Amino acid sequence: MKRKKVSVLGAGNVGASLAQHLVMGGISDVVLYDIAPGVPQGKALDLGEACPLWGSSVSIKGTNTIEETAGSDVVVITAGLARKPGMSRDDLLQANASIIGVVAGEAAAHSPKSVIIMITNPMDVMAHLAWKSSKFPPERVLGMGGVLDSARLRAFIAWQLDVSPKDVDAMVLGGHGDQMVPVRSLISVKGVGIDSLLPDEKIEHIVERTRNGGAEIVALLKTGSAYYAPAASACEMVKAILFDEKRLMPCAAYLDGQYGAKGVYAGVPVLLGKGGVEKILEVPLTSGEKAAFDRSVSAVGQLVSVLGLS
Ligand code: LAC
Repeated sequence: MKRKKVSVLGAGNVGASLAQHLVMGGISDVVLYDIAPGVPQGKALDLGEACPLWGSSVSIKGTNTIEETAGSDVVVITAGLARKPGMSRDDLLQANASIIGVVAGEAAAHSPKSVIIMITNPMDVMAHLAWKSSKFPPERVLGMGGVLDSARLRAFIAWQLDVSPKDVDAMVLGGHGDQMVPVRSLISVKGVGIDSLLPDEKIEHIVERTRNGGAEIVALLKTGSAYYAPAASACEMVKAILFDEKRLMPCAAYLDGQYGAKGVYAGVPVLLGKGGVEKILEVPLTSGEKAAFDRSVSAVGQLVSVLGLS
């Protein structure tokens, strides 16, 4: 069987950690691309030298040449700037748009059948921009945010209850920004609703911590943003696509009327398989959750209009 190929654009912390997951797990051949001379090559060499120890037979190549990404099954875009303490994800809009507008179009041209996963912030808007630049159908361009935010929420609940995070289910919807929507009515431990397990104020505290989850790490690191959980989240999405798993995950997808939103990317529950976003599920939300979702999506919409995208 021909091995799958995944290209990771951006060899910073998120990109290199994702490459490590893919290579260590023997999931696919990997091309790690970056404009910084030597950086992707050095990290790829290091990863390749770990393969005998990991028992991995996939190939890993580092490059400054976008042509080497050609024929990828999945392209993951992490290129661009990360935020510094005190910055919101939205503050990165213009700087990252100038990078993503170019790199997404080039990558798409070399891998015309790929699925693109956007990680660069502000992620929902960058997914929109990548979709426009790629000229792909919208189901083949999606964004990583909800899986990460949901993992944070699941971890916080697990720590509070002293249960395994494996048994905690949750979904965070809306934009991957300060107004994201941790959906309280969907938090459960093996199907047991959270309201019967924790008092209201504890749940509210965890919901708030989730909204600030990225900023909490930026404030601690001071020189960059989170990468272990973002890379693990992207890896789950890559596997769902490569192995056609039909996983149900909260991802940024192009909305064309679903949840009452149109012409904008935002986090919604999707079925992820080989075609990318194979279906968007419309799950019931309380009126408060729906109002919060609408506010979050309209914040994304404002950034989309700043860039003049439609
Ligand atoms: C975070 C960044 C990656 O949430 O958006 O940590």
